Amino acid sequence: MSAANLTPTPDDKFSFGLWTVGWQGVDVFGPASRPLLDPVEATYRLAELGAAAVTFHDDDLLPDDASRDATLERFQKALADTGLRVEMVTTNLFSDPVFKEGAVTANSREVRRYALAKALRNIDLAAELGADTFVMWGGREGAEHGASKNVGAALDRYRDALNTLCGYVRDRGYDLRFALEPKPNEPRGDILLPSIGHAIAFISELDHPEMVGLNPEVGHEEMAGLNFAQGITQALWHGKLFHIDLNGQHGPRFDQDLRFGAGNLRGAFWTVDAMLGAGTDLRYDGYVHFDYKPPRAEAIDGVWESARACMRNYLILREKVEAFRADPEVAAALEAAGVGELEVPTLAEGESLDDVRGATYDLDALRDRSVAMEALDQLAMEHLLGVR
Ligand code: GCO
Ligand code: MN
Ligand code: MN
Repeated sequence: MSAANLTPTPDDKFSFGLWTVGWQGVDVFGPASRPLLDPVEATYRLAELGAAAVTFHDDDLLPDDASRDATLERFQKALADTGLRVEMVTTNLFSDPVFKEGAVTANSREVRRYALAKALRNIDLAAELGADTFVMWGGREGAEHGASKNVGAALDRYRDALNTLCGYVRDRGYDLRFALEPKPNEPRGDILLPSIGHAIAFISELDHPEMVGLNPEVGHEEMAGLNFAQGITQALWHGKLFHIDLNGQHGPRFDQDLRFGAGNLRGAFWTVDAMLGAGTDLRYDGYVHFDYKPPRAEAIDGVWESARACMRNYLILREKVEAFRADPEVAAALEAAGVGELEVPTLAEGESLDDVRGATYDLDALRDRSVAMEALDQLAMEHLLGVR
């Protein structure tokens, strides 16, 4: 593995949320541990490190006051100076206490209307900056108390909100798609659209399902004990993997937002494999977006080190995955495990159920057959551990 291959290039399409490196370390037990980072400075710094794009929430970048236009101008100069682009924009519908019991699904109609207005304003900005994707993370769309939220009505209002926003994008002729970001809990005790599967099912109820996909995050699925690689593969299968949030998580616990590769490293290996298609044509070709939090204990040097490490870990894992898929022993192990046979339909063209019912099955042979899956998995492990 050469150092050159571990240097990010624009072709790698690495992208960072400005809120990631900008996180000051505020948590439920303590205030900020780092000074405010100017988002425009962060843009220059991320470009130096090798990012190709940045993303932001309205509030990360633009104060809602008289300095808004000047900040936007400074930011646009930074984009022009660095060649970075804005590939995704998202709206903060969770920090302001106005959204304390929800935004587009708040019981309060007034809050829902304000949330829509805030999102609409931000859609105009996203279009102006040329973003492709508009992420909707409903962190406050949920509840802690059973009877406090009529879940059916909340889903009706969620659907209405998406229909309204899609309608607006169509009316304006913007080239923008929406990506819902599932999360099981945090900050709400239980959040609506908690997993990839819930969100995919919800999208099928919308007026323009083709305009809405997903922005799954590694940690959010793993918080629920789910397999992220399988989840994003299902999203790809539905044509719904519009965007991705890569980070690290160590099992079902609070949302750790570790740098990519930290936490569940084997999961990260299979995540990169899934993004690259896992030996099939079903692959992700969007931005490789990192949504993590530099640990609160780190000072600013650790912030930049963690950003660099997200990209480096992706590049290392990409090399490992490519080597795994190119290894002739792996090809033989895949064959021995019968992986290719799953691509053969269960009933051949022209066969009827009588062919299935009338056949004789050598059940003892089927019971005793080798599946050779440990050997295959060990090969992956050895690639990951660097001994192959
Ligand atoms: C989280 C979420 C958020 C969202 C982001 C987009 O860690 O809970 O990932 O970071 O991705 O706010 O709206
Ligand atoms: Mn998260
Ligand atoms: Mn995220």
